Amino acid sequence: MYYSDELVEEVRERNDIVDVISGYVKLSKKGSSYFGLCPFHNEKSPSFSVSPGKQMYYCFGCGAGGNVFTFLMEYENYTFPEAMKALAERAGVALPEREYSQEERQQQDLRTRLLELNKLAAKYFYYQLRSERGGQAMAYLKGRQLSDETIKSFGLGFANKYSNDLYQYMKSQRVSDELLRESGLMNVDEKRGMYDKFWNRVIFPIMDVNSRVIGFGGRVMGDGKPKYLNSPETKIFDKSRNLYGLHVARTSRKKYILVCEGYMDVISLHQAGFKNAVASLGTALTTQHAALLKRYTNEVVLTYDSDEAGTRAALRAIPILKAAGLTAKVLHMQPYKDPDEFIKALGADKFQERIDGAENSFLFEISMLEREYDLRDPEGKTAFYNAVASRLVEFETEIERENYIEAVAAKYQVGFENLRKLVNRAAMKGMPAPKAEIRREKKAVEREEGIKKSQKLLLTWLIERPGLYGQIKGYISPEDFTEGLYYDAARLLFEQFETGNIVPAKIINHFTDTEKQKEAASLFNTSLRVETKAEMEKALRETLYRVRSHGIAQRRQKLAPTDMAGLQRSIAEERKLAEIKRLHISLE
Ligand code: CTP
Ligand code: MN
Repeated sequence: MYYSDELVEEVRERNDIVDVISGYVKLSKKGSSYFGLCPFHNEKSPSFSVSPGKQMYYCFGCGAGGNVFTFLMEYENYTFPEAMKALAERAGVALPEREYSQEERQQQDLRTRLLELNKLAAKYFYYQLRSERGGQAMAYLKGRQLSDETIKSFGLGFANKYSNDLYQYMKSQRVSDELLRESGLMNVDEKRGMYDKFWNRVIFPIMDVNSRVIGFGGRVMGDGKPKYLNSPETKIFDKSRNLYGLHVARTSRKKYILVCEGYMDVISLHQAGFKNAVASLGTALTTQHAALLKRYTNEVVLTYDSDEAGTRAALRAIPILKAAGLTAKVLHMQPYKDPDEFIKALGADKFQERIDGAENSFLFEISMLEREYDLRDPEGKTAFYNAVASRLVEFETEIERENYIEAVAAKYQVGFENLRKLVNRAAMKGMPAPKAEIRREKKAVEREEGIKKSQKLLLTWLIERPGLYGQIKGYISPEDFTEGLYYDAARLLFEQFETGNIVPAKIINHFTDTEKQKEAASLFNTSLRVETKAEMEKALRETLYRVRSHGIAQRRQKLAPTDMAGLQRSIAEERKLAEIKRLHISLE
């Protein structure tokens, strides 16, 4: 972290979280908290809570959570220093410049300068498209039925025929060769020196989720090759982490996001009213793309080209999307090649019908599998059913498996029972020993999860009921919170209790990466449904007991056999543990 803890804390304190989040989300008061529709996933009823007391937010639907810094980092995709800057500005706190290390400053500066340079270039291209020289390019775009409004909203531009134009312009703006080299906008070779990368092409600026220009794509106007040229990877442009159109799609508030292949598909779809379309720009979908999508939606409809390459791309994307926890469907475009063509031929309503009829990704995979077998031949057919059965085995729950058996049976007109038998047989063949092992492992994970949950609950209760700490502190210690991060959070919290200054939002800042901050926020926002005070007391006692006894057992395990003092301490702890069962805890 580049700023002192005191300064970070000052900025946090001066930015009330309810005020800040109200600028993004409509909140209404309910009890001691505020609720609204979660900006990090799509939902119909509000499960996003903001607590003025804790100065934290937490979504009971998707688990997003943190303090005012993490909110801006997640929502605006800011880095920590960027969030710090925005909030300091908002509250009128002056930030010292010196606190960056030299290298950090340079890196930060370079990023900022590259973003500025890209903006300058985008404006230049934009202007060129509208100038006299841009006539042909404008005609090309119009010929592709793009409206003025669309051309404007995607910031489309034109790099003209003179291959040194942009370079000259940048020079007139006193941009250094060094920065230009880092921008990816220039080619450099020994003979010619530095010259424009893009010329005589229509330009598509590529924006990140915050609408900052991070790179460019350029298309030839006609059939030349290569059809597209794109910015290379730079300090600010990483293809595998950005999706074209996401800055608009993320605010579209549709239940799903359409993922397609290219610039033109996204633009056509947006123009036709499907503002939830994004593209992965010529690269295969990556796990980072999937994680990015998961921030904004739970469901993806793949609208890849209908050719062989598009089908293969969809088959590769499905497991990646599923692993990120997204539901995937596949849209059928036939007889058209891509969304752009489809919309032009049949219009938006028909496209919506195709979305509504998009195929479940598993059934899509099965249809693709089918193509590898000759179903007219009994042997081929049997082999196909066996292959399907071994795929069906992979479903975790019986109900899910049965539903899919039913769907496949209906689609291929085989008897449900017959197919189920085949699946059962495939399951038996599928190595029973590892299965038992998986089950054992699962049990262990569940137990582990149970303990985690108990530790989380206890931390949440401690914050929410300040009187509690005094009553139980003799029975519990930070060491009982065994998970690395839980221990740190508990230690910090217990310290705050001892000094009487309880500020959970401050604890979040002790964790530097966002995943940890999110997890720390969840520690203070766990809930358990209990009806009465008696039930609550019982739950408290049991949770306290569980956490403490687990802590004692863990420490005991780590004890060296010769550590007599340690053993005595452990026995004393255990004796005290028994008291918890009779402990009366007052919830007043
Ligand atoms: N692409 C690329 N370089 C190429 C060809 C394609 O980077 N030589 C990327 C572009 O991002 C392009 C996407 O792959 O948008 C899909 O390619 P394609 O379907 O050929 O392009 P479209 O977007 O459909 O463009 P158009 O309609 O103008 O043909
Ligand atoms: Mn295409």
